[in-house]
Amino acid sequence: MITLGIETSCDDTSAAILENDTRILATIISSQDSIHEPFGGIVPELASRRHMECITPIVDQALCAAALSLSDIDLVSVTRGPGLIGSLLVGFSYAKALSYSLKIPFVGVDHMAGHILSAFLETDVPTFPYIALIVSGGTTALYQVDGFMEYELLGRTRDDAAGEAFDKVARLLGLGYPGGPAISNQAVHGNPLSLRLPRAWLADDSLDFSFSGVKTAVMNHCNQNRRKGAAVDNAAVCAAFQEAVTDVLVEKSISALKQRRLGTLVLGGGVAANDCLREQMTVRCGQENIHLFLPAKKNCTDNGAMIAFTGLKYFQNGVVGTLDDDVFSRSHLGR
Ligand code: KG4
Repeated sequence: MITLGIETSCDDTSAAILENDTRILATIISSQDSIHEPFGGIVPELASRRHMECITPIVDQALCAAALSLSDIDLVSVTRGPGLIGSLLVGFSYAKALSYSLKIPFVGVDHMAGHILSAFLETDVPTFPYIALIVSGGTTALYQVDGFMEYELLGRTRDDAAGEAFDKVARLLGLGYPGGPAISNQAVHGNPLSLRLPRAWLADDSLDFSFSGVKTAVMNHCNQNRRKGAAVDNAAVCAAFQEAVTDVLVEKSISALKQRRLGTLVLGGGVAANDCLREQMTVRCGQENIHLFLPAKKNCTDNGAMIAFTGLKYFQNGVVGTLDDDVFSRSHLGR
């Protein structure tokens, strides 16, 4: 069974070819970072226009890398939402057209399910049930995952997503877009203890997140320094910010595992590529005897392979898309 996975929910155009549910034959990703970098964030109109230019060549490249042609595809899996509507429509319409012309089924999947199942792209895979911490530019959420299609939302951000906070703080410090890797690179040279930033724990047993307070604290620190004519120590601010965000992500994940009496944690989403988070989560999971699954960094950020895998699992469970299906901007997964 050959599945073509297509991902265009935000600013990456990606296509991947999956053989059965185990072998990724090709993954091609076209990043739009250089297009959005001058604006310090994603410009939706530019994103969809770029997807339009890229979608056909990216699918062709994936087929070429897998040494296959369109006629070899058995199933098309595509991101249906959440994301930017204009971006989603490019991949979704393309997938429908392929399905119609090739007379093969297609499945539209929730992007979050792709991140939740991305650990299955690795050789050592988790067993159900597990807790998934999904940390990306669009969301930050904790799920209990009981099967390939069974998710329960345990908590989510009440304001900014963790990745969004990284991007906004980077913009504040003039570090460009995307902010996550830029902050992480700067943080290596800074002392996280030189600046104390708040952690939003919310109510005692709450598994919700809030990152707007730490972002505002960084902004206030920068403004105070500028008023005094003092230079902002970017490296120290980045190190302190990264540690504040990491502390909350780690402790809330451990809390979810304890509340649900589970012993397996899976990370997913672009922020899961962050070295500080990966290291601290590994240490804490070791202390708590938790089995931690960290997908390779390339499988944490948006990619077509996780969409191909997720669509295949949905299809095997009887889900098939229809031509009047539409995209959606918000996820209702697990609610
Ligand atoms: O999952 P993703 O590729 O796209 C979304 O679905 O949002 O995540 C993108 C987000 C961006 O906010 C980016 O700044 C962040 O992930 N990110 C990182 C790192 N790499 C990407 N954040 C922190 N550290 C990183 N190394």
